Amino acid sequence: MWRNDKNGYGWGTIVLHWTIAILIGGLVALGYAMTRADIDPELQFQLYQWHKSFGMLALALTIIRIAWWLVNINPSHIATLSRMETRAASGVHAVLRGLTLAVPLTGWAIASTSTLAIPTFFFNLIVIPHLPFEKSAAAETFWTGVHGWLAYGLAGIVFLHATAALFHHFLRRDEVLRRMLGILPHRPASNPDTSTAGSKKWDAGQR
Ligand code: HEM
Ligand code: HEM
Repeated sequence: MWRNDKNGYGWGTIVLHWTIAILIGGLVALGYAMTRADIDPELQFQLYQWHKSFGMLALALTIIRIAWWLVNINPSHIATLSRMETRAASGVHAVLRGLTLAVPLTGWAIASTSTLAIPTFFFNLIVIPHLPFEKSAAAETFWTGVHGWLAYGLAGIVFLHATAALFHHFLRRDEVLRRMLGILPHRPASNPDTSTAGSKKWDAGQR
């Protein structure tokens, strides 16, 4: 139930996927809002601290997600996808995994190189040590640029990825989105042809 099998995603992958997706959506919006020039400085300071805490949470969950992906099998692509579509989907997923790691790491690099040397708290609970980088205005500007580009690039790729998922759901009417939402009756991996009540219902849903 928690682990993937070759027919679908387990709850472990599903819960991590949607939690990280919500966090990243919120962080892009917060990152954009907090860096506007006309914002009250005190509010801006608070928003930066929330951004750093939620960003570090996204980093921790992404590391867990990548470890979870490494120890789980990947479900097979659904049968109606062409070879080109399966390659495109796997490529986009690999880029998404890479960017969800790179974006918070570059954010951590900004906080670590900033000459203001403001500590990074994790929700006022613990202080997160800074990366061993030299503090300088040039390094901070560099990491700020990289972080912004990668974060907006990630948002663009997520937009494409979500559009593809909605295209499959509403136009192709296949089970690509439903199996990531966990609303498909799960067929046992060991014997996919077993005629359990669940698999009959699942098969009926395909016709
Ligand atoms: C997946 C996680 C993250 C996402 C999606 C994200 C996204 C963003 C975005 C969209 C911006 C605004 C860029 C701009 O308009 O110039 C931003 C700025 C910033 N982020 Fe993140 N961020 C993440 C994680 C982090 C982490 C973990 C930290 C630090 C611990 C961090 C620190 C910062 C800082 C300091 C800025 C402001 C840079 C400036 O002053 O212009 N971010 N982030
Ligand atoms: C920050 C946002 C997102 C990221 C980083 C992300 C990343 C990923 C990754 C890496 C996978 C491969 C499975 C895995 O390893 O977990 C995946 C699968 C999937 N995602 Fe997302 N995703 C995001 C948002 C969304 C949104 C908004 C939707 C739908 C509207 C969506 C729909 C799906 C679906 C349907 C699959 C399964 C595809 C298949 O079975 O081939 N994702 N996503």
